[in-house]
Amino acid sequence: MLGSLYLLWLVAMTTSLVSKAQILTPQDYEEEDDEEVTTPSVAVPCDYDRCRHLQVPCKELQKVGPVACLCPGLSREDQHPDPPRLGEVQIVAEEGCAVAHWCAPFSPVSHYWLLLWESNGAPQKSGPLNATVRRAELKGLKPGGSYVLCVVAANEAGESHVPGADVEGPENWADPSFGPCRKLIMPPRPLTLVYAAVGVGTVLVLLSCAALVWHFCLRERCGCPRRQGNAQASDAL
Ligand SMILES: *[C@@H]1O[C@H](CO)[C@@H](O)[C@H](O)[C@H]1NC(C)=O
Repeated sequence: MLGSLYLLWLVAMTTSLVSKAQILTPQDYEEEDDEEVTTPSVAVPCDYDRCRHLQVPCKELQKVGPVACLCPGLSREDQHPDPPRLGEVQIVAEEGCAVAHWCAPFSPVSHYWLLLWESNGAPQKSGPLNATVRRAELKGLKPGGSYVLCVVAANEAGESHVPGADVEGPENWADPSFGPCRKLIMPPRPLTLVYAAVGVGTVLVLLSCAALVWHFCLRERCGCPRRQGNAQASDAL
């Protein structure tokens, strides 16, 4: 009797516990979800890509959203910016132009400009490009020409460092793959290549003709004894 009572109590307890758990569990999760949404400590990174063309500065993204998102850390505003990183440079040989892409440094930037050296001497400087710009087109590049291109960032405190600018022109440094500069070598005009190919072909044909003429002249002159055999051989050819 006592045993069956105890058993009954046990069954009642477990069923009540299970039902409690079933009721509680979803509520618990909901409560946690609510907490995640409202807690300001769980911030998300801003939709900011420092290599994206026309990228709005991260500080402005922070102002726009309902919840302040996270921005990458930047160097101080009273220091000149770090150099941007010059990325891919697409060359359109037929039009003598190139499109340069770069990534912003982790520094406050007010604007950018490009420097283009054609040979040793003063570089050409582009006009100022606003802080959202990450892409610029260079025009009037000569086919077969070689250039050095650098991208410079500036803010109120000054401008980013250009390697080699303080050491007799940019020819003196090796091509740094992640720096603000890049060497550009324009391919020669496609027509030039065609002319070159035709030229080489002509020279080869002329040479072989000369060789043939020389060969047969020599044979004629010395009157080789094995003329018959030679004639047969040329017939066969
Ligand atoms: C920055 O320059 C780009 C390209 O010239 C232009 O489309 C954009 O409107 C400019 N942004 C600002 C904020 O001036």
